[in-house]
Amino acid sequence: MSRTPIIAGNWKMHKSPKVAVAFVQELASMIQPYDKVERVVAPTFLALGSVAAALEGAALKVASQDAHWEESGAYTSQVSAAMLQPLVDYVIIGHSECRAFLNETDENVNKKAHAILACGLQAIIAVGESLEQNEAGETVEFVRSQVSAALEGISAEDMRRVVIAYEPIWAIGTGRSASGEQADEIIKSAVRDTVRALYDDAVADALRIQYGGSVKPGNMEEFMSQPNIDGALVGGASLQADDFAALIEIASRVKGM
Ligand code: 13P
Repeated sequence: MSRTPIIAGNWKMHKSPKVAVAFVQELASMIQPYDKVERVVAPTFLALGSVAAALEGAALKVASQDAHWEESGAYTSQVSAAMLQPLVDYVIIGHSECRAFLNETDENVNKKAHAILACGLQAIIAVGESLEQNEAGETVEFVRSQVSAALEGISAEDMRRVVIAYEPIWAIGTGRSASGEQADEIIKSAVRDTVRALYDDAVADALRIQYGGSVKPGNMEEFMSQPNIDGALVGGASLQADDFAALIEIASRVKGM
């Protein structure tokens, strides 16, 4: 089963609209040869409109870093999936920073997934365990529960528009990453096999799963060489055009694109 690799840059709270537009214009020309790899950038809400306009028909897709599940309403600070629909291809939900700072719960992640898919968008659902859970040997059980909760009620048909990102919290922004083999093992047993049990072989084998957490050009090959890892969700290294382009080049080469 061949899955299209997907490398997404989660810019978090970085890059003003002006800086973001200049960045994607530079990056788009650098990554031109690697068009078999799906490339995505996730600017802040503020920069989404200008980045989407600058990229029209170009080599990069745009993601939002979150979306509310209601279409509109009294939800101060929020932006709905329906409002994002004309601007983005993907919405990232369930990021551990949102779980930690914004009280993102499994239940809300599931509501957001339904809203995103109902709008015709694609979802990148982030899951991952804390250091304490990892050290207590609870990783597989915990990640399985996050995956099952996020996907509740999502049809097999809609699963074609879902990507899952496994990001161990202890590896995010710390410079400390899981080894390729460790990450592949968790991704297989806690993500792909959970989806296999919830759906079937076809859905599980088609599902694209990213690794995230201190991915950089120096360790990208190790992750991309793993059979169950189909791409990366990248924070820090996606903020530098050279590094981000190098990640995309490595994914293209290692995955034989
Ligand atoms: P870093 O690549 O900076 O560790 O961040 C990972 C991440 O949180 C991507 O969503």
